[in-house]
Amino acid sequence: MDDELLKSLAKEYGTPLYVYDADLIKHKCRAFKESFKDFPVEVKPCYAVKANTNLNVLKIIEQEGFGADVVSQGELDAVLRSGFQPANVMYTSNSKTESDLRSAVEAKVNVTVGNTDEINVFKKVGGHRIAFRVNPNVDAKTHPKISTALAGSKFGLHFMEGIAEEAVKKALDSSLNVAGIHCHIGSNVGDMSGFVEAGEKMFEFAAKLKYDYNIQLDFIDLGGGLGVRYQNEKVASVNDFAQAYKPLVEAGVEKLGYKPVIWFEPGRYIVAEAGVLLCTVNSIKKTPAKNFINTDAGFNDLVRPAMYDAYHHIRLAGKDGESISYDVAGNLCESGDILGKDRMLPEAEKGDIVVVENGGAYGFSMSSNYNSIPKPAEILVDGGESRLIRRRQSLEQLYEDQVV
Ligand code: LLP
Repeated sequence: MDDELLKSLAKEYGTPLYVYDADLIKHKCRAFKESFKDFPVEVKPCYAVKANTNLNVLKIIEQEGFGADVVSQGELDAVLRSGFQPANVMYTSNSKTESDLRSAVEAKVNVTVGNTDEINVFKKVGGHRIAFRVNPNVDAKTHPKISTALAGSKFGLHFMEGIAEEAVKKALDSSLNVAGIHCHIGSNVGDMSGFVEAGEKMFEFAAKLKYDYNIQLDFIDLGGGLGVRYQNEKVASVNDFAQAYKPLVEAGVEKLGYKPVIWFEPGRYIVAEAGVLLCTVNSIKKTPAKNFINTDAGFNDLVRPAMYDAYHHIRLAGKDGESISYDVAGNLCESGDILGKDRMLPEAEKGDIVVVENGGAYGFSMSSNYNSIPKPAEILVDGGESRLIRRRQSLEQLYEDQVV
């Protein structure tokens, strides 16, 4: 998105402000589908809603023919409001209440269970068609906080010591129909080897279910995780991603003798690059040790740098050059509230607009009211038109749930 447009949006709506590019979201959805077009089986792409839950963003993705991966009653409600068909929705989380499971069963969406205790509850609330999230014990080679299939991870039923198999037996004993298996090994993954290892293990497990238990699965869900380039790291393209899976899926269906639908759950790939966070320079501080650009946004708006030491490219709208090293600081009372460290930028002045790139995924959706600061507004730029898709939170809204 062009800096003049971003500056005018910042002026009109104030900052901090998230701005999303609808065309880029559509392009990413199409590129994802296109890369699987010569696949030997039906592929169902499902958007991982946690990356960006704005209803307008969901609507675009639904209209591109995607399903949705949800993790809570809130996300389930959001996708049903946005027109996603229940058959194209996967509800996966590591820990569900009876009420979560009842909502999912009543909504007739696909449900995965990632522990044995949930099997009885699933049955109790009227569930018939169960799926299992398994843990294939694979290193996704990403940040430890977003690795989800290590031996010590809380997610899924481990293949180790036959835990996943025992869960399947328990479901069969409870007369449930085992419809699918699911895994998700981690997020922002750039190297395909973990995906391939996990995919092969998933097909091996599917073959075990067929030949030992006579189970023919409707689907194998291979999760999300495809990364995007935040800095200059090596990241596989979506075509590399599809091509890495192709031989193992071909070999897998051959061994199975039937063709389960293969689900994928990309979140970040679809929306990360389509969003920026705009903030305003409040002040500049030059010290003998460091120069700071003090902005009006912080980790309440974008937590990724503080939480994962994540790099987000930062520029000053409409200014070029790399003359001064700055730390781009947030406005919270926390030393860790730095949006970008040691960034070479042009000379900054109070009032400049700072553009934090790749903010479309896990940006607003992880925002908070820390330090009692209202959440930012969101704008969608669609075919040359810009519109407000979430009002800035007001101070009054910070108190509306408090009982005094
Ligand atoms: N499916 C499941 C079951 C997941 O848990 C996730 C992400 C996804 C799909 C989508 O993964 P993606 O394609 O977006 O990598 N807050 C972190 C990312 C946490 C991801 C959690 N699960 C971050 O900002 O990097």
